[in-house]
Amino acid sequence: MVSKPHGDKLVRKIAARKTRERILSEKDEFPKLTVSTAVAIDAENIAHGIYSPLTGFMRSYELSSVLEHMRLPNDLPWTIPIVLDAPEDSVNFDEGDAVLLFHGGEVIARMYVDEIYRFDKKEFSEKVFRTSSEEHPGVRKVINMGEYLVGGEIELLNEVENPFAAYTLRPVETRVLFKERGWNTIVAFQTRNVPHMGHEYVQKAALTFVDGLFINPVIGKKKKGDYKDDVILRCYEVLFRNYYPTNASVLATVRYEMKYAGPREAVHHAIMRKNFGCTHFIVGRDHAGVGNFYKPYEAQEIFEEFPDLGIVPMFFREFFFCKKCGSIVNEKVCPHPKEYREYFSGTKIREMITRGEKVPPHFMREEVYDALKSFDDPFVGEDE
Ligand code: ADX
Repeated sequence: MVSKPHGDKLVRKIAARKTRERILSEKDEFPKLTVSTAVAIDAENIAHGIYSPLTGFMRSYELSSVLEHMRLPNDLPWTIPIVLDAPEDSVNFDEGDAVLLFHGGEVIARMYVDEIYRFDKKEFSEKVFRTSSEEHPGVRKVINMGEYLVGGEIELLNEVENPFAAYTLRPVETRVLFKERGWNTIVAFQTRNVPHMGHEYVQKAALTFVDGLFINPVIGKKKKGDYKDDVILRCYEVLFRNYYPTNASVLATVRYEMKYAGPREAVHHAIMRKNFGCTHFIVGRDHAGVGNFYKPYEAQEIFEEFPDLGIVPMFFREFFFCKKCGSIVNEKVCPHPKEYREYFSGTKIREMITRGEKVPPHFMREEVYDALKSFDDPFVGEDE
């Protein structure tokens, strides 16, 4: 049986056709708020139930509960704030108003404003990222947020343009798909990277224990030096075609902006995949980490606090290539000393690619490397 949604009911906040037409024809009568891409995507994720049980952007009592307790006020686990920020000069409406959210000149959603409030960016960062250092890309984003947060329910009117629509599946779709395939247990894999052999091993090791594998790369703004979205997808396409059992695996993207919040984000990633219907979730080394902000297995330890999460985390020690074993292993199964080990360092692979050096096949499948090489510049230039 696929997993129940978080909070038991899959949220769907998409305006019915008639309502949508009426609102759009009256759009000049509503106050207007232009939102960032991150907020527009969050609105979509709320509307499609990816953030179930949320039905809107958080009010202050919800935000403080999440920051303080990593739970919603009803005690359901929730670790990442889902908030709508607005600079002071854009708040030309009041609590109680219905407002239209705009992105890229298009109306995307109607929002019923319950609360307009200020927030403490330092406290927010220290709780979510466990640091307020500006070296952290998530903290930098918070610093650039508007001074006000606007909380309230939303209703989706239009989707943001999606270049990966063909690969996008929503929870209503994955839930049907998993059932059709007859899968009772499904493990989800979150990724923001081009696949190296460590990723493949962790996925296939997990798949040995369950019926299906759901590979779910995140599409959306990333930090400088990460891989571009189309590169990640192309590389997964070739990997899938050549090395994955298609009757036991699905590749689909989810739009979401990485926060690099390590442990808290790992739990959030798991909740999103629970809403897609997955029963298990892979957490390897330094999940959703950045630099040295989190200890290698901190994102696994946090799950101890959530016995009631409703999705089973599958923990893996780091996979590496051991020259003595002649294969990809991890410290649980390899008895050899460290000098035989070659780690799949993302930085090392990135440097090899930038220098035009071939990445050896025990690090990365040749087909993946060829796909990667076909891009002039596979990396994100600047974060924001
Ligand atoms: S993440 O930011 O999305 O976590 P990435 O795409 O690199 O980054 O990792 C996806 C998942 O694979 C995470 O759970 C991560 O811990 C795991 N992972 C990455 N590399 C390895 C490895 N060498 N061994 C085990 N797990 C790994």
